[in-house]
Amino acid sequence: MPTTTAPSIAAHLGSGVHLLPQTRQLRALHTVIRNQEVRRDAFVHASERIMRMLIEAALDLLPYERREVTTPVGAAYEGLRLSSPVCGVSVVRAGESMEGQLRAVCPGIRIGKILMQRDKQTKQPRLYYTSLPADVADGHVLLLEPMLATGGTALATIQLLLDKGVAEENIVFVNLITVPEGIATFCRKYPKVQIVTSAIEQRLNENAYMIPGIGDFGDRFFGTD
Ligand code: URA
Repeated sequence: MPTTTAPSIAAHLGSGVHLLPQTRQLRALHTVIRNQEVRRDAFVHASERIMRMLIEAALDLLPYERREVTTPVGAAYEGLRLSSPVCGVSVVRAGESMEGQLRAVCPGIRIGKILMQRDKQTKQPRLYYTSLPADVADGHVLLLEPMLATGGTALATIQLLLDKGVAEENIVFVNLITVPEGIATFCRKYPKVQIVTSAIEQRLNENAYMIPGIGDFGDRFFGTD
């Protein structure tokens, strides 16, 4: 099958799901990160270029207000500026891979962290560590998590942010790749969260890996086994 995205993406795209335009440039970058033979430096480079696109698209979903400036030739320019404070929250460890691109686009942005992992016995997500800006509830949150597969950890992470007082509609989930199952679970539970993604895969396999997918993202990005 030549396609790398789900055959009926439209059926899974609620109004809160934003799939990056599937340009040839984006497909070429995805071709790099999906190649099992690619070197790690090329994998990181192509991943970060896609992450940059995702972050730019996520910023476009935030609220803006009018801001007029005067140009060097003395003319008025009717512009815009963000009207709400924004912070990042990365889901350790894979989400940390997106921090560099977020910082490059938004210098000085504060970035919290959440470490949530599936308990081997209960099979439920378990919170190990959290560190968030004190005023996280006062603005918008860009939640950084490149993989949305079954959705279990992602759902628990969103719930944690809601428990901290963040409004559901103020969360933008920044995601590299996902599957229809993950999106469906997510949108059913948190319909007001917006998701920005660059690819919707065909399905999950029996080991909860996305197909065709990219294998274990964290290991490939950070160079671990
Ligand atoms: N996490 C990964 O790194 N890859 C998958 O395919 C699913 C979850």
